[in-house]
Amino acid sequence: MKKFIIATVLAGISVAASAAETVRFATEASYPPFEFIGADNKIQGFDIDLANALCKEIQADCTFANQAFDSLIPGLKFKRYDAVISGMDITPEREKQVLFTQPYYDNSALFITQKDKVADVAALKGKRVGVQNGTTHQKYLLDKHPEITAVPYDSYQNSILDLKNGRIDAVFGDTAVVNEWLKQNTALASLGDKVADQGYFGSGLGIAVRQQNTELQGKFNAALEKIKQDGTYQTIYQKWFQQ
Ligand code: ARG
Repeated sequence: MKKFIIATVLAGISVAASAAETVRFATEASYPPFEFIGADNKIQGFDIDLANALCKEIQADCTFANQAFDSLIPGLKFKRYDAVISGMDITPEREKQVLFTQPYYDNSALFITQKDKVADVAALKGKRVGVQNGTTHQKYLLDKHPEITAVPYDSYQNSILDLKNGRIDAVFGDTAVVNEWLKQNTALASLGDKVADQGYFGSGLGIAVRQQNTELQGKFNAALEKIKQDGTYQTIYQKWFQQ
């Protein structure tokens, strides 16, 4: 009798586990339109819609946690979550630590300043430029523009506030995000030239999973392929990027 009860309980557990796999995502949610906290206090954006579409495809439940950008990869390695989607560039350096899916978005970077204050990137010499800690933008500025002072921020939102208040002279971020800030702040302007150095900004944005988790990487890649073919990807893209 006892044995029978245990067997039944175990069977119940395994059925429940296979029916509802949960994929715990982490992101840094102050980066519209990729991810941000909406009016309802929930994380939303292009990345979130994309992740939800992929989870639907692989029949998993998704959860999203908001974390500091520079803690995303360490937290993934510590198994605090299963995947990272955060406007994250696929770079050779990060690929030493995590596995990425196929690129899901072509990326580039732009400087944003107060209107009519800075003529071009050369004029940023000796000036203060805000970048988020742990980003490709920060590394690029430090390596390629030692003549510019890179000012580190935990969130891009705070760097934009400082730019508006004149505490810094520019912010360096992803093109789609800069375009979003421009829409929201008419006193700001971009410097025009996009930076697309592959050595720093990699081969597009990807979803990161742990190095051993080829299974989840494979599932996401297949699901990405599928939602590109059936038009779901295009619908999500248009919702967030059609200017
Ligand atoms: N694309 C840049 C990188 O991969 C910045 C991403 C910042 N993302 C964010 N959600 N704050 O480093």
